[in-house]
Amino acid sequence: MNQISMKKINPFIVLAGCMVICGIAACSSEPTDMTAASIIPKPVSVTATGETFKLGRSSDIFVREGSGEAAVAGQFLADKLNPSTGLGLTVVSGKGKPGRGDILLELTGEDTELGEEGYVLEVTSRLLKITANKPAGLFYGIQTLRQLLPARIEMKEVQEGPWEIPTGVIRDFPVYGYRGIMRDVARHFFGVEDIKTFIDQMAAYKMNVLHLHLSDDQGWRIEIKSWPDLALYGGKTEVGGGEGGFYTQEQYREIVEYAQERYVTIIPEIDMPGHTNAALASYPELNKGGKSPELYTGIKVGFSTLDTRSETTYKFVDDVVRELASMTPGEYIHIGGDESLVTKDDDYVYFVNRVQDIVISHGKKVLGWDEIALATLKPNTVVQYWARSGNAVKGVQQGARVLMSPAKYAYLDMKYDSASIYGLNWAGYIEADNGYSWDPASLVPEITAENIIGIEAPLWSETVSDREEAEYLLFPRLPGYAEIGWTPSDMRSWDEYKARLADHGKRMEAMGINFYKSPRVNWDNR
Ligand code: ACM
Repeated sequence: MNQISMKKINPFIVLAGCMVICGIAACSSEPTDMTAASIIPKPVSVTATGETFKLGRSSDIFVREGSGEAAVAGQFLADKLNPSTGLGLTVVSGKGKPGRGDILLELTGEDTELGEEGYVLEVTSRLLKITANKPAGLFYGIQTLRQLLPARIEMKEVQEGPWEIPTGVIRDFPVYGYRGIMRDVARHFFGVEDIKTFIDQMAAYKMNVLHLHLSDDQGWRIEIKSWPDLALYGGKTEVGGGEGGFYTQEQYREIVEYAQERYVTIIPEIDMPGHTNAALASYPELNKGGKSPELYTGIKVGFSTLDTRSETTYKFVDDVVRELASMTPGEYIHIGGDESLVTKDDDYVYFVNRVQDIVISHGKKVLGWDEIALATLKPNTVVQYWARSGNAVKGVQQGARVLMSPAKYAYLDMKYDSASIYGLNWAGYIEADNGYSWDPASLVPEITAENIIGIEAPLWSETVSDREEAEYLLFPRLPGYAEIGWTPSDMRSWDEYKARLADHGKRMEAMGINFYKSPRVNWDNR
């Protein structure tokens, strides 16, 4: 009996037979049970139909005539699949019906439950169809499709097939609209290519916000044309005394555009009024006594402040925010506001109140660390809870929404355990399971789901200076934060998740990610 006719009788017999004949690792056939696929974040619903779809030489990526947005998504998919499959898939735009073995991408706009980011992925033995209301939904359907294929799909060189996908239906949409990571490019600078690579990595897990911490005591990382020395002088160094760096405005726009193409919004942060030594070192007039401090390469916090009662400071903030806003298509500018330990309380409040007005005057909304809730928050200002739940609750009492980044659970710069080679531990150790096993909506009794815009996991970079080091802290925790942001909390459990994460070990390897092999995950059992 050949495999095709056996499949019609019972696909699980085919699978079991294959495992017996060739062993799991070398088996040429992939499982046909879609519910057994290790998809992260876990989709809202998966229904298996027990057959197999095969991607082959005759497969096309089919989009409806006139659907330019679907065609763009299709090209993204082709560019992802072609290097490893060698199939040379192309996007075909047409009126007729897609053929056997084709992938159909379709924008329908009819399924309101899916919202802006949801999708339906429907696989039969003849056709793989992704439908969505908006292009972002098609993009997320494509990320799921990648994870239905064997891990070697992520390799850059041609791999052996077959390229088989289990049949069934996935209906999927996120819990939170904001699913973010913060990258600190101030303590150590990370260049454009590192950031682009990272955007691809986070987008693969359906994360959609990259908050860039662009300034701190140790470095100013974005060109500001009206205050050029911020970057030219303030960007000269970094923690440990390395050479630092900064993004030109052209490079920054390039990052923003690259991110947009992957449905990632860049949120720029200028940390103020504390964490400003690099700016103070660059311009004497920003200092109370008119004298600049030296550049700083240590990791102590809380010693610097802008002069919050000086009009020069507000001219500076206005210029910086204006230039940043003009390069930022996203809604938010992050004003920092954390750990201004040498700013008097009333000066701090006065500053945050004025800076909110400046951001709003440039057409943007304000995000700030939880201390900003000590000021009078403007409508639409969002409070990022990192340290003090009492501050975040003060924000909620003023009608603000909260971005959840509790350091104890969500700080990617915390060590996994005492043996971690990078990271800090002031908020505790965060192993892969601790990072995963919490629910933003039930962490603080006074902060409920309606108050929360989403989750963000920050990676502060005092201890990491290059891509491999950063990846060690980012992975494997990032997929867990992605799942917290996407999947309903009642569908999540560490015991079930850790088996899916184990499967992603191979996938992260194929993507070239230097992940930490947490002993809480059975990486070999995959
Ligand atoms: C922070 O970690 N200082 C926001």
